[in-house]
Amino acid sequence: MGAQQVKHIAGSLRVALLLLALCAAAADGRPGTAPKPGARAISVVPRPELSLPGRGSFVITPSTQILVSGATRMPFPPEYFVAQMRRATGYPLTARMSRQVPGGNVIAFEYFRDDTLGGEGYSLDVTRARVRIRAASDAGHFYAVQTLFQLLPPAVFGARKAEGVRWDIPCVRIHDRPRLAWRGLHLDVSRHFFPPAFIRTVIDLLALHRLNVFHWHLTDDQGWRIEIRRYPNLTAIGAWRADREGIDWNLRQPQHEGEAATRGGFYTQDEIREIVRYAAQRNVTILPEIEMPAHTTAALAAYPQYSCTGGPFHVTTGALWPITDIFCAGNDSTFVFLENILTEVFDLFPGQYIHIGGDEADKTNWRKCPKCQARMKQERLPDENALQSWFIRRIEEFARSKGRRVIGWDEILDGGLAPGAAVMSWRGSEGGLEAARLGHDVVMTPGSNCYLSSYQGRPEYEPPAGGGYLPLRKVYSFEPVPGGLTPEQSAHILGGEACLWTEYVADPSRAEYMLLPRLAAMAEVLWTPKGSPDEPDFFSRIEPQLSRYRAAGYTYAKSLYLVSMSSVLDTVGRRVLVTLSSESGKTPIRYTLDGTSPTARSAMYRGPFVAGQSMEVRAASVRGGRLLGPATTHRVVVHKAIARPVALKYPCGKYTGGGAFALTDGVPGTKSYDDGR
Ligand code: ACM
Ligand code: ZN
Repeated sequence: MGAQQVKHIAGSLRVALLLLALCAAAADGRPGTAPKPGARAISVVPRPELSLPGRGSFVITPSTQILVSGATRMPFPPEYFVAQMRRATGYPLTARMSRQVPGGNVIAFEYFRDDTLGGEGYSLDVTRARVRIRAASDAGHFYAVQTLFQLLPPAVFGARKAEGVRWDIPCVRIHDRPRLAWRGLHLDVSRHFFPPAFIRTVIDLLALHRLNVFHWHLTDDQGWRIEIRRYPNLTAIGAWRADREGIDWNLRQPQHEGEAATRGGFYTQDEIREIVRYAAQRNVTILPEIEMPAHTTAALAAYPQYSCTGGPFHVTTGALWPITDIFCAGNDSTFVFLENILTEVFDLFPGQYIHIGGDEADKTNWRKCPKCQARMKQERLPDENALQSWFIRRIEEFARSKGRRVIGWDEILDGGLAPGAAVMSWRGSEGGLEAARLGHDVVMTPGSNCYLSSYQGRPEYEPPAGGGYLPLRKVYSFEPVPGGLTPEQSAHILGGEACLWTEYVADPSRAEYMLLPRLAAMAEVLWTPKGSPDEPDFFSRIEPQLSRYRAAGYTYAKSLYLVSMSSVLDTVGRRVLVTLSSESGKTPIRYTLDGTSPTARSAMYRGPFVAGQSMEVRAASVRGGRLLGPATTHRVVVHKAIARPVALKYPCGKYTGGGAFALTDGVPGTKSYDDGR
């Protein structure tokens, strides 16, 4: 038996013992969350696979030693840990290589092969005397560091030295690894440009949530954002549009003749290389997206010769629908252009995948273009969907010849999927399921659960956002691996992504607001084993997570504190019972019925009450004598038809608005199509 096997068995034994201990802990409470007396509650997001709280804590002091063993040179995770700890504590901590681990006041990073941990797993053992981190990879050690930060007081996330903090880590044993390998966040930098410093912040947010793919949506109709040296006009022209900020996205005039294009920006190749390096030091791979054949107006404004019509084009200032601007598929020079661009993109981004878009391509111009029609005849393509499929196949072959793989939005299934292509399923999960059944890899991003551009609270209380309604709870309910697949097919679902489209997100602070805390819910869905996270447990950990965002200076939404009202009909007594709640669960609610704004001294909501007459309910979550966000207003209209059955002469189609009873429940409707009113 070789040394490696001995280590492997020892590793399995350790996991088995930990499991046994966890089962014993579970007998008198929840595993992983119930603190022993004297220990601070452990609240880690995403929740680790297994954790067993102990008694007491380890305290970091100026003389704590940070040692690294089993690596040939100093790896980045201990350096990352030390940099953050020095900043927050002001202690002169350093990391050094050492084979010997002394008895006390040590944080030891041990590089150690353990097949039970997978590529990104780690184990963490905190006793009063020392912290021991074991992982095979930098990724595992980096995630152990992220967990350590969450075990420490939130001040560890601050940018400056915090005074008067006891830097204690509650004793705990953790064995952790991700459920899914692809845990992503997509950011659209075309609809609004975000400076490199904010892209680094976004990568920090990925790291904090143990996410590992940054999907960078670099090109679209409203701006081309990546320097391509061979085609300087892509950024000299394509990165700039006529300035219509302050006007609703859907109401913007196109650029006028002779008007200067002044709004925009782009990333130089040097900036991109620096961001790629920054991401690698946080276990984040960047997935660059170069859109084709549509969502390309900005590119065509710079190089109209690669369109079907020859242009001219202006970079789009706001909404564009349908998207008829499209690369000409009949022109061979289009492919030379795209391949030259991709060659520079491959050179910048070391990840295996490149995203080539593929979504929402209106084929009107292909139908009218003699070159595209000739291509269809020559390639025996029955229709324009087949032409799109042919287009994607051609690009996929090129990428493959360069050792890369392509992924595209689920429309790339139309007309037949290119052999090596992976699919990002955004129009629901069906495209992803179909691709997985065909043996293709899939990343799930259904808009219903993953598009963080949607409202996270009632629109009247939120800044303007795109389309739908996606509160924290609904993100948390996302199941990235739906039923109906064989285990082999399920294995093709690599993971999922949260997507932030930025039509209504014009600056970094609004972007953070849209991401936080919903990114935490997405991270837990993708990281924590299926079936193990549960909603009340997650909501009990979200407040400590908010305190970390606060310490780090991030902007975050407090929409989970917005009070909503639902009416319950007592159909026998024909009465309306009013129920108040917020997503945060246990936060106290105070309310008024006299039209005044609630304060910390208004009536406490204790349970459903009868609305004997029409009334206006104003309510807010309150803690520590303060309102946690704005008060919300709700009306109940008590009328003669209350709780009467309804027969619909014209039954509802897709948008049922809560069904027939919504007409007689005493609660007025709204302008939203999906809030059940
Ligand atoms: C998309 O939302 N058009 C991918
Ligand atoms: Zn054409």
